[in-house]
Amino acid sequence: MCGIIGITSNKSVSSAIINSLRKLEYRGYDSSGLATLSEGIIYEVKSEGRVDNLEKNLATKNMLGSVGIGHVRWATHGIPNTVNAHPHSSENVSIVHNGIIENSTILKKYLISKGHIFKSQTDTEVIVHLITEYLKENNLKDSIVKMLKQLHGSFALGIIFKDKPDLIVGARRGSPLAVGYGPNENYLGSDSYALKSMTNKISYLDDGEFCVLKKDQVDFFDENGKKVNKKVLELSSNEENYEKGEFKHFMAKEIEEQPTTLKNCIKEYIDNINNDINIFNIPWDLKEISSITLIGCGTAYHSCLMAKYWFEELTKLDVTIDIASEFRYRKNRFKKESLYIFISQSGETADTYAALDLCNKNKMKTCSVVNVIESSIARDSKFVLPIHCGPEIGVASTKAFLGQMMVLYIFTLKLAFLKKDLKKEIYIQKIKDLKNLPQLVEKTLLIESQIQTISSTFTDAKGSMFLGRGFSYPIALEGALKLKELAYVHAEGYPAGEMKHGPLALIEDGIPVVVLAPRDNYYQKTISNMQEVIARGAKVLLITNKSKDEVVSENIWQTIEVENANDDLLPFLLTIPLQKLAYYSALKKGYDIDKPRNLAKSVTVE
Ligand code: G6P
Repeated sequence: MCGIIGITSNKSVSSAIINSLRKLEYRGYDSSGLATLSEGIIYEVKSEGRVDNLEKNLATKNMLGSVGIGHVRWATHGIPNTVNAHPHSSENVSIVHNGIIENSTILKKYLISKGHIFKSQTDTEVIVHLITEYLKENNLKDSIVKMLKQLHGSFALGIIFKDKPDLIVGARRGSPLAVGYGPNENYLGSDSYALKSMTNKISYLDDGEFCVLKKDQVDFFDENGKKVNKKVLELSSNEENYEKGEFKHFMAKEIEEQPTTLKNCIKEYIDNINNDINIFNIPWDLKEISSITLIGCGTAYHSCLMAKYWFEELTKLDVTIDIASEFRYRKNRFKKESLYIFISQSGETADTYAALDLCNKNKMKTCSVVNVIESSIARDSKFVLPIHCGPEIGVASTKAFLGQMMVLYIFTLKLAFLKKDLKKEIYIQKIKDLKNLPQLVEKTLLIESQIQTISSTFTDAKGSMFLGRGFSYPIALEGALKLKELAYVHAEGYPAGEMKHGPLALIEDGIPVVVLAPRDNYYQKTISNMQEVIARGAKVLLITNKSKDEVVSENIWQTIEVENANDDLLPFLLTIPLQKLAYYSALKKGYDIDKPRNLAKSVTVE
């Protein structure tokens, strides 16, 4: 949440900062700002709303300076306005901050007693005054160490100093921060994506560390100010992945990319010749694992739920799932023989990271399923299963969801086979079926015009429901989440069989209800539940798979048929129309599809 950029160079930096802020906009977009330093003067410009506004504002100013910091904000303390936008400055320093300072109220009291005057409602401003206070009597390094020790909470910081002409300080606790190395310039950024257009050489700060950047030198320190050495990593990624190309939105592109990203994932994990699964170097004997706990947030949590169904269907393992923000504060009974799997697209979600950290501290076996392999969650888990999706820029997750499901399904098969819960012939058959999945997704993606028409009913509705049973239940939850996130329509995902215990009271004439009823073991039961909502006036959109047998039911408003696949794989196909439904509903309303209101892609606050 919130994006930070810093550049120290021998040329003007403001337009490069604006370019990087555009890339960071997915982390927060309610306001933005930048500060540069030139000949002992800190120049500052801030705007409400998008980086476009900031750029327009910048055009009216003469922002000199070869050192600068920039920020995109996702408000935590204080409404999104220009006063609360970052950077925050005193007469000596200017600061950008990502995260939350939990003890800001106490610190503010202390600083006011020392004569500091606060201008904003943010927690960040205490950092500004604290460092200004310490600089009165300490050198720069000691002031930073002292200041960091006073702060509680999670943060990534970028700081420039009026009397240090080419210097930026970066610091990290909880929230991610990377350093990039360029020719005669160096960079600070919330993630490598922001730095990629400038360099492919980066290092990551570890928790508690800070760094001092000059245009030709970077030094890293631990929390006590002791110098530490850093590895320089080389990023290899295709810049094209970060462009929309012919698509109107990243979301549309990411939906259409799914056959390719699934193929890439299969290529990484499947031995095509022997129809086997390649997962090497696992640091434990998988045969000794008797239970699994899956943890994630948002869409990643839905992948956890999906995996629970697969693990239970195909293995004898005990499976528990949890929402990371709940797991981290519950009284956990850690089990030595359990494997804790953390699912995260970004690999930076604060709650998921905290849950992982808790498991690591309790010496549990930890594994992560991530998209961003340089992320904190990937780096700190003992084993990583990447989803190989390429960058996902749209805030609402699409291709990463299918990628997470794919890796979790592959892992389920491998474990089921190793633990002898799955016979070899079935294992091989399931792998063969899996190899065919990208093609089926490709065909299912062709459903287009019908969904465009249907979406009007959802945009005009005051609410909607998404129902499914068994394997289709997690997908119902994900479909409802997508519609909420993008079209701002109230949508509830529910197990179809549970409707009669309460939510049926919500059904009234004309309410749109999506029923996911593929022809699996739950089919007949779900169709009966569908009749119950139709009888009460619901307008049902039935999503099923192609079959020779017609659906024997009258009064269905619309039916969409996805391609046919084995039961395990139908959830992938059912997801496609739901992604498109949310996309077109948001498009009809003219909403900002890639950046829905109040949300952010990488949630690095609790
Ligand atoms: C945010 C995003 C969601 C995502 C969730 C978890 O809320 O908007 O799309 O599912 O974070 O993110 P992660 O990166 O951990 O998968």
